[in-house]
Amino acid sequence: MDYEKLKNNLEKLKLMRINEILDNYLERAEKEKLGIIEILNYLFEEELKSKIQRSIDMKMRMSGFPFIKKIESYDFNFQPSIDRKLISDLETLKFVYNAENVVLLGPPGVGKTHLAIGLGIKAIEAGLNVYYSNCHNLILSLKQANYENRLKHKLNTLAKYKLLIIDEIGYLPFDKEGANLFFQVIVRKYEKHSIIITSNRRFSEWDEVFGDKIIAAAILDRLLHHAYVIAINGKSYRLKERKNSGLFDNNYFAKK
Ligand SMILES: Nc1ncnc2c1ncn2[C@@H]1O[C@H](COP(=O)(O)OP(=O)(O)O)[C@@H](O)[C@H]1O
Ligand SMILES: [Mg+2]
Repeated sequence: MDYEKLKNNLEKLKLMRINEILDNYLERAEKEKLGIIEILNYLFEEELKSKIQRSIDMKMRMSGFPFIKKIESYDFNFQPSIDRKLISDLETLKFVYNAENVVLLGPPGVGKTHLAIGLGIKAIEAGLNVYYSNCHNLILSLKQANYENRLKHKLNTLAKYKLLIIDEIGYLPFDKEGANLFFQVIVRKYEKHSIIITSNRRFSEWDEVFGDKIIAAAILDRLLHHAYVIAINGKSYRLKERKNSGLFDNNYFAKK
């Protein structure tokens, strides 16, 4: 009876992990003659761990990451132009707590998205809300929201994330509406929360990207006011992988 009631209450209280391990653990606790405090401590510790993990899993699912790559799997020897110490500093997430920005610049394949996601994962593991979008999709969804008269709501939602990652600025040019909407996102975030931006274009080319000198200057002004800029001058990791597979071997076509 008591046991039934206990299981029932655990369910009602949504103490799922305790509910799951209770049977086996109580058996073990009896055998090993564990004290009541020890038993309670273990059970609640397990519940807490699983709650934290569930929250991380949920944040990861909501993040929109196109792939999961950690900083630990980034080969810094392959990209010597990167200041490893700066990346280590960013991994502490001080930049997020200080609402500073990170701009990763460089040609395709050097690992801009990998590093941005790697930092995003660190932030999620620290319990922060993170949202990733590539720039083109972000602008499309802002335009859609604008069209449906819910731009304000959409901007408010984006403003809530402690860290917003906007990937691939500059692959496609902005039209006037797109540039305006992007500017509004930056203004909302400015000095409140962090943004990580990646781009294959130099800042001097942003006039062209945004199709408007004044708006490009206004965006850069806010974005760079408190920002770490990481310019990666190196070879593409994608091409390295293909080279190793033989596709880029000069003798490839000659071989049988
Ligand atoms: N230095 C590196 N070490 C390990 N993997 C890398 C490195 N640079 C890039 N990659 C991998 O190569 C692929 C392309 O990198 P990505 O981050 O998409 O490049 P970018 O965004 O600069 O175009 C990804 O699978 C990424 O994990
Ligand atoms: Mg990329």
